[in-house]
Amino acid sequence: MDFTAILLHWFKNHQRNLPWKGTADPYKIWLSEIILQQTRVEQGYDYYLRFVQQYPTVKVLAAAPIDEVLKLWQGLGYYSRARNLHYTAQIIANEFKGKFPTSYKSLLNLKGVGEYTAAAIASFAYNEAVVAIDGNGYRILSRFFGVETPIDTTTGKKEIYALVEELLPRKEAGRFNQALMDFGSLVCTPKNTQCAACPLSEACFAFNHAKVAALPIKSKKVAVRSRYFHYFIVSDGHYTYLHKRSANDIWKGLYEFPLIETTAPTEVDHIIEQQLFKSLFGKYAPKITAYSQVIKHQLTHQRLWTRFYAIKLDAMPKRLAKDFCKVPIAQIETYSIPRLIDAFLEKKAGQFLFQKKCLP
Ligand code: ADE
Repeated sequence: MDFTAILLHWFKNHQRNLPWKGTADPYKIWLSEIILQQTRVEQGYDYYLRFVQQYPTVKVLAAAPIDEVLKLWQGLGYYSRARNLHYTAQIIANEFKGKFPTSYKSLLNLKGVGEYTAAAIASFAYNEAVVAIDGNGYRILSRFFGVETPIDTTTGKKEIYALVEELLPRKEAGRFNQALMDFGSLVCTPKNTQCAACPLSEACFAFNHAKVAALPIKSKKVAVRSRYFHYFIVSDGHYTYLHKRSANDIWKGLYEFPLIETTAPTEVDHIIEQQLFKSLFGKYAPKITAYSQVIKHQLTHQRLWTRFYAIKLDAMPKRLAKDFCKVPIAQIETYSIPRLIDAFLEKKAGQFLFQKKCLP
């Protein structure tokens, strides 16, 4: 038996049972693929179920307010995915009468849908003979065929893509693509590979040359940038201020407390000297009553070092400054907020370690 036959045979007996499988509804497949971009299946699983329950069709999703969609997305990260999801749902609902494009080529025109996602939808929903290969597929083929070109380069990707195109069974593209994903997450895993149980090991280059741990090769280490955030939880006991992030940056569209970002770690006494601090609170005589430890929050390419400050104002202006809205404290949880802030609020009492009675 060859690679494809062995893989499909394995798939028949061992495939994972996941809620987005076995449907030919392009909406549900699209939804699952967007959720699963940069997200592990275990994490995306419940989000997928909540989304299909709340938005069973693309038209229902299109009609939902974006803030509600972002709220449901909260905790998944990469919020541009949620905004593109909503935008694309509206295009499909309004311009295509709720009908998804029916070919790989036309799916590619949708915002947020790249080559992989278009191929996944086309092969899973329409069984179109296109290769949908994700990190799992690149890893399996690099190991099986001994491809030593780094898989995060265009050349490496092309080399592997050409190999898979040869292997793709034209009439069973959907099953083949899904089989690669399942095989990569159950057998040919990044670490702790299950070579002893692998039906492909006999002909596998990496297995036969003791290179399983060394393949695939990646060339780049992505630089991680450090940022320093200072959040001010302003309160008179009833209200606080929130701001909707709008810049092309992390968390666009989410709400946060008034923020000062510094380019280096900055101690509490220096924060109050920042121009932005003065312009935020100006004449309202802010008092920092407590502040947290520095909390480290890791994103894929950024490390956020964040401190929260409790601020008491003598008077609570209707608007703190432009772009800030006054919100009842009890309602914060109804806003879509970054996980960093949500986690802090959940255990707030324990995190305000330092009490400041006389500052500033
Ligand atoms: N990751 C992305 N798409 C997937 C799928 N359909 N099944 C399992 N993992 C996936």
